[in-house]
Amino acid sequence: MIMDDVVYDAYREAGALAQKILHRGAGLVKEGAGLLEMVEATETMVTEEGAFLAFPLNVSFNEAAAHDTAMPGDERVFARGDLVKVDLGVHIDGYIADTAMTVDLGDHGPLVEASRSALEAAIALVRPGVATGELGAAVQATIEEHGYKPVANLTGHGLDCYNLHTRPTIPNVAMSGGAVLEEGMVFAIEPFATTGSGRVGEATRVEIYQQIAARPARLPSAKRILETARPRRGLPFSRRWIPGDKVEIGLSTLVRAGILHPFPMLHDVPGSFVSQAEHTLIVTEEGCEVTTR
Ligand code: CO
Repeated sequence: MIMDDVVYDAYREAGALAQKILHRGAGLVKEGAGLLEMVEATETMVTEEGAFLAFPLNVSFNEAAAHDTAMPGDERVFARGDLVKVDLGVHIDGYIADTAMTVDLGDHGPLVEASRSALEAAIALVRPGVATGELGAAVQATIEEHGYKPVANLTGHGLDCYNLHTRPTIPNVAMSGGAVLEEGMVFAIEPFATTGSGRVGEATRVEIYQQIAARPARLPSAKRILETARPRRGLPFSRRWIPGDKVEIGLSTLVRAGILHPFPMLHDVPGSFVSQAEHTLIVTEEGCEVTTR
């Protein structure tokens, strides 16, 4: 399979941009700095480059693994000891680059290294004919060699035009079989290493939503929310991006009506620490091309 050049180039361009902005954004994670300011500054870098966010910038602290971002008016500040996951998605014409890194404001070096080396171990195996279960085995073995657990119920995921989660699924633990990789596939690998249980659960707080049905809403606040959602073309958006008040009522109405899907914050047990590393890649004839490096 030969990938259309225009598509391939859009993935590459999104990847190069995501790589650059992720590092700049992560550089803003400093003891005493405000979360909201860091998130808004990083998201603005994407739009200033003429690209778009594939999802709200995820910034997850300590035992939180994913799906946290700044709340409206968020007053949280980065503190000494924090372990901060920064996960950025950029798209160009719908073609997505998804990449993440962990910023250590404490003494978590080996934990950060565990997810990073697991990602490299998995990338090194990617080529046509390899089963995704083999990538999961490499991730698990590498993280366990470092003395931690992989998060078993979070996975890497295939990417498609305006589609953030499609086939193949890339497990973070060993499993038999799984999808067989083919040339031209585009996906993200994202190992999470933890000092906790190795499974994440859903928190009650939700910051990120996705529109999953095109039905109209009557409630004025719900209408306003759908105006924010519509240009996303099915990609996730943040509660923080919705203007005006009574947002909570609108959101819960739309979730109950099956129009929005909520992504609750995901976390391991209290007091634990989770690290994450992520790259997006394209499977080539001989191996792969990492777009976010
Ligand atoms: Co991802």
